[in-house]
Amino acid sequence: MIRAARAASRAEARSSLTAHFARTVNPAPTQPVDPLRATAGDSFRAELFAGQTALVTGGGTGLGLEISRGLAQLGARVICASRSTEHHAALLEEARARAWQVESRELDVREPTAVERLARELDERGGIDILVNNAAGNFVCPAERLSSRAWRAVLGIVLDGTFYCSRYFGLGMIARGRGQILNVVATYAWTGMPGVVHSASAKAGVLAMTRTLAVEWARHGLRVNAIAPGPFHSEGAANNLWPQDGMRERIEEQIPLGRFGQAREMATHSLYLLSPGSNYINGECLVVDGGLSLGRNMWREGQRRGAAAEETNP
Ligand code: COA
Repeated sequence: MIRAARAASRAEARSSLTAHFARTVNPAPTQPVDPLRATAGDSFRAELFAGQTALVTGGGTGLGLEISRGLAQLGARVICASRSTEHHAALLEEARARAWQVESRELDVREPTAVERLARELDERGGIDILVNNAAGNFVCPAERLSSRAWRAVLGIVLDGTFYCSRYFGLGMIARGRGQILNVVATYAWTGMPGVVHSASAKAGVLAMTRTLAVEWARHGLRVNAIAPGPFHSEGAANNLWPQDGMRERIEEQIPLGRFGQAREMATHSLYLLSPGSNYINGECLVVDGGLSLGRNMWREGQRRGAAAEETNP
């Protein structure tokens, strides 16, 4: 088993870069691609994930939706798993129109028996190749007012849910000797963030889980990585994380790239970590925050100083 996994890994490593990225195999576009409108197909070659099955928890909204769309666009069969399947309606409609393979499943990741049941069922159908642990719950609440039920609700979804899915879907991946797991964390997993002690603590746990499983399961042919978005546009984040007027602008002011990220950009970066193009990356966490976590106000001040120097000494 281990020998087979290593052979598969070596075979993947031998395939050239042209096998993964769009620009190198497709003719150069006549117009430059607008990065804010780019889809996964602009960065990666078509059918990159053909023949693979991906399960995306919380895959019908926000970042999860964009990851599901990107995977489906690049040929994967995508299984969206959420507490409420109503969240999948828009994606299913798009899938019908674009002949993507998308399936909707109800799943509460906090329920280990439900996760195990779905994993067994999918294993009987050949199993999954990619697991994206994206399901999350979050809201801003001062720590001293956070009830124990509120703490448990978020820890249950983010930390327990990521473990249950990794544990039960990982079992099938181990048996098949291959698989990719991508965990969605957040930069505040290590910086912390006032008002979200529940989510920050859970994401920090998921980061530790990512690194631990990456080492523990590498010998079975699995890779486990994480992506850490900074602030990006999504309805859930807007309603839950920066609900007050002016809050978003104040955060934006501190981002070196000067803007929030787009969920679609986060998804494209996520797909890189799931693609054979990142084959030797394991246990890594890709920070996607426009440089925000590099020093905030100090950084911004440095930019201002640079601009002022240019004005006085053009
Ligand atoms: N502020 C303070 N406490 C909150 C809260 C908020 N905005 N939202 C939920 N809670 C508390 C509830 O009051 C309850 O605690 P209590 O019984 O002591 O009052 C506890 O959390 C559980 O709430 P409940 O709604 O029953 O839990 P749930 O498991 O059904 O849902 C969430 C929990 C986090 C998923 C839910 O708040 C939610 O749907 N959030 C929006 C979706 C989201 O977070 N998306 C991610 C965006 S980044």
